[in-house]
Parts: sequence; structure tokens; C-alpha cells
Amino acid sequence: MPSAHRPRFLRDLQPEADVRAELAQGLLQPQAAVSPRFLYDALGAALFQAITELPEYYPTRTEAALMQRHAEAIATAVRAALPAGFALVDLGAGDGAKAERLFATLRPAHYVALDIAEDPLRRALTALQQRHPALPVSGVIADFSQHLSLPSGVHDGPSLVFYPGSSIGNFAPGEALRLLQQARELSAGGALLIGADLVKPRAVLEAAYDDALGVTAAFNLNLLRHVNRLLGSDFEVRDWQHVALFDEAQSRIEMHLQARRGLSVRWPGARRRFAAGERVHTENSYKWTTAAFEALLRRAGWREVQAWQDERGWFGVFFARA
Ligand code: AVI
Repeated sequence: MPSAHRPRFLRDLQPEADVRAELAQGLLQPQAAVSPRFLYDALGAALFQAITELPEYYPTRTEAALMQRHAEAIATAVRAALPAGFALVDLGAGDGAKAERLFATLRPAHYVALDIAEDPLRRALTALQQRHPALPVSGVIADFSQHLSLPSGVHDGPSLVFYPGSSIGNFAPGEALRLLQQARELSAGGALLIGADLVKPRAVLEAAYDDALGVTAAFNLNLLRHVNRLLGSDFEVRDWQHVALFDEAQSRIEMHLQARRGLSVRWPGARRRFAAGERVHTENSYKWTTAAFEALLRRAGWREVQAWQDERGWFGVFFARA
């Protein structure tokens, strides 16, 4: 009988004073901005899960279908690149469901899930451990958008870095390059399996980020409540409106919150006046071409890149060796 494990959790978070300073600095810029990582408090994480089920939001189901269709080719690539005993390191794990679907074919020796939303990660890994009692499971509560590495002692040896969902698209190309270089270091001679959303018609993109039910609007607006709790600010959700637009020149969806009227927002030590129509920039979601994303991977030092995409060319799954 294999012994039953319990998930191990480590926290590697920014001090609260640094978070407040970063938020205040972003809000006081001429073009106010808040990092998209503040979209993910517990409610934000749940709203994002709901987004993934919307008919307009194609990335999650398109990627899942690609991973399923090419499961054998992915498993062959993983077996060629990684020794037995490798860890599956899941960046932005959410509920862990995408990684869990790979366990049976890839057979990792250790599952390491990183996420910024602590309570949802704890709940997800506790449930996942019950379904896989023989698999060592580690949860790292961390914001890897500034720097990606594992706290020491989590895993020594090669890893398959798994970064699905096109979350790489939430980084500007220069930041994405840095993150992919850090992922390569982290993999310790292992490999990368990553999803990237591809360029497609504007109408499809804008509907995916401004759905008919208003779930994405709620996800974006909820950031204001999260910021209020962290900064002590007094944003009134009803004063703001969700905006999502595709900027073709930069190949990115931009999400903003737009003031419905002239207003002031206060927090300890400062205030900011917003004119009617002024915006807080909350997220970019870059859309890549397959060729440009393969070139980015190579620039980051990854090699032997393999790519799979769906018939419509809407989403790409990429495998590469360190
Ligand atoms: C997590 N990330 C890949 C999502 C995206 O599509 O950029 C976040 C999201 N924002 C609005 N809807 C979903």
C-alpha cells in the first residue's frame, strides 16, 4: 500500500506595506493602473472559474481539447525530456484541474502548485490530495509575476513547468521573456508545457472579455473591493464600469475600469480625483501568433519547440526542452 501524503504549504508573499505602496503608486500615475494580480482574491478566483465556463470565453475549453487530442504526443515528448522522478510545477494552478488531467499519462513524482490566491489553493489541493493520496503535493502561495523561483527545499531536480490558460498573455512581451527565462532556470534541465492565446478577429476577442452575462465585468469590478481591503481606499463599485477593448497595434486586449462620473477616491495618506470617463487600467491579455511565440520561447533559451493548435488557429499549446 503506498503511504498517504498530506499537502505541504509554503507562503512566499510580498510584505503588506510593499503591496500598499505599489497600489498607491499605480493609482497616482497619470494613467492609473492596478496590477492584474489584484483580480484574484477568493471571490476573484471563483469569478475567473465562472468565466472559463462562459460560451464566449473560448481559451480554456480550446486548450483542454488540444491537450486531450495531443495527449500521446505530449506524453512522448515529456518521456524523452524528463527522467522519472520529475516534478510537475503548475504556475497559477487555480483549482489544479488542468494539471490533474495530466497525472495519469505523465506520472509526475511530485505536484507543485503555485498560486497567489491562498484559500482557493488550500481547498483545491486538500481535495486533490484525497484523490491522489500517494502523490506528494506542495502548494506555494506566491506572486511569481515579479520573480519566479521555488522556495528552497520544495523540489530538487528536473521539473516540467506547466503554464496553461494563456496566463503568459497577461505579461508584456519583455516581461514574458524574463518569466520564460526564469521558468527555464526553475525547470533545472527539464521542460515546459505552455498555452498561448492566438490572434483572431476582434469581435471574438472582445466578446470573450465582455460577456453577455457580465461575469467578466464582475471579475474586473471586484478588483476595486480587493484594493479597498488592501489599501483602505473607498472605491464605490457602482461608480465604475467595465471596459474591454482589443488594441490591434499592440495585439492585446486591455481591461479598464472607467469612472461613470467625476469622483474622488481616498485612502490613508492620499486621494485621487478621477474625471468622468477616466480609467484605471487593470489587465492586458496579449494575443500571439504561433511563429512569434515560438521565437519568444527560443529567445528565452528553450529549444526543440513543438506546437499544436486547433483547426481555427485560435489557441496554441507549446512544448519545449530546457
Ligand atoms: C488568466 N488570464 C489568462 C485570463 C485572460 O484571458 O487573460 C484572465 C481574464 N481576464 C478576463 N477574462 C479572463
